Amino acid sequence: MTNKPLLSVIAAALLCAPLPARAQQAQQDFPEGPGKPTFVAVCGACHEANRVRAGYTPEGWRTVIRMMLNFEVPIPEDQVGTLTDYLIKNFPERPRPAAVVIEGPVQASIKQWQVSTPGSRPHDPLATKDGAIWYTGQLSSKLGRLDPKTGEIKEYPVRMQTAPHGLVEDKDGNIWFTGNHLSLIGKLDPKTGNVTEYKMPDPKAKDPHTIAIDQNGIVWFTAQNANMVGRLDPKSGEVKLVTSPTPNSRPYGLMINSKGIPVFVEFGSNKIATIDPNTMAIKEYTLPNAASRPRRLALGPDDVVWYADFSRGYLGRLDLATGAHKEWQSPSGPQSAPYGIVFTKGALWYNESFAKPNTIVRFDPKTEKFQSWAIPGGGDIVRNMDVTPDGNPVTANSLMNQVGLVEVK
Ligand code: HEC
Repeated sequence: MTNKPLLSVIAAALLCAPLPARAQQAQQDFPEGPGKPTFVAVCGACHEANRVRAGYTPEGWRTVIRMMLNFEVPIPEDQVGTLTDYLIKNFPERPRPAAVVIEGPVQASIKQWQVSTPGSRPHDPLATKDGAIWYTGQLSSKLGRLDPKTGEIKEYPVRMQTAPHGLVEDKDGNIWFTGNHLSLIGKLDPKTGNVTEYKMPDPKAKDPHTIAIDQNGIVWFTAQNANMVGRLDPKSGEVKLVTSPTPNSRPYGLMINSKGIPVFVEFGSNKIATIDPNTMAIKEYTLPNAASRPRRLALGPDDVVWYADFSRGYLGRLDLATGAHKEWQSPSGPQSAPYGIVFTKGALWYNESFAKPNTIVRFDPKTEKFQSWAIPGGGDIVRNMDVTPDGNPVTANSLMNQVGLVEVK
């Protein structure tokens, strides 16, 4: 490694220089021990150092460090082991609810594939028209394409530290993605590997998140931390942004309904919203429980909204046309953390992301009955799902560095 001495010098300088406010906070609040100086100097630069309090298994911590190194976090090479041990010792996995697996009438089997680059953090999956399963390697700065028939994977590099997040296919087979760290929208042409980048017209538009294309070819995206929703016209490249009426509402999961209207959930509030595709006026619908935090949504064939209530462990249904609302506790309970969700083959399919192991849950809207399956190998964490042309759910499993396919018989 030619850059080792340089990194050591940078780290030494960081350790001696007066610490920025965030790092000073970390200095006080975190346990003593070898590894702490590196932690304080390095880990609060992009996100809160408090992120580590989420807690992981020893294997999970090794994966997190692998991911951060992929993302060019300047951990001096001779400190990687000490820092990893510090994190393993002080931030173990928190207690998680045991998965409740429910038998039922539907036959399904789950296949998982390891993606090529270790520590990729596959964030979102995408099932394309040609039968492939794509994923964003958020921390490997790659997009990947798996052929589920052969298991062959091809990865396409994007600019380092882009942090590709959501992705969608256009009618010509280009893959559009959000780059949440560099605040851009990208378009990959898989035939050439060329990436076109579209920058945000406003520097405040941080964290482009979920992406969808409407019936007119317009690209829509949420920008979570900016509290915005955006619209990109691929013909002109023009990007327009609007701010959500609710402060810090964290626009998150996004889908286009059958009438061409983008529908999104606000993960920072208990609201679901639509955006007028022409005027970009946002209309919000409030869920009855103030503690609800809808994270992702699925649309039924009737455009009814189904959502994963992450904070309370519920599956919810809201009919935007009538206001009718109903919710069901997810099988693994209040802490099950329902996350990625799709509607396919007449039912809801979603993931319980804090249940151990993670599950795939099916909910039949006619009988209102649940059925579920443990994901082989643990599954953690399915942040989004998609559906293949023949109606099977696909997953990306970020901490396991896998993508998955649920084959419904
Ligand atoms: C250069 C920017 C950067 C720095 C510096 C950084 N991270 Fe991260 N980290 C990221 C990004 C990007 C993500 C993924 C997006 C997100 O969730 O924010 C992430 C996510 C995480 C996660 C959540 C992982 C998961 O999948 O559950 C943890 C834990 C974490 N970082 C720990 C650390 C630690 C420990 C350090 C110091 C060694 C560190 N980070 C330094 C950019 C950074």
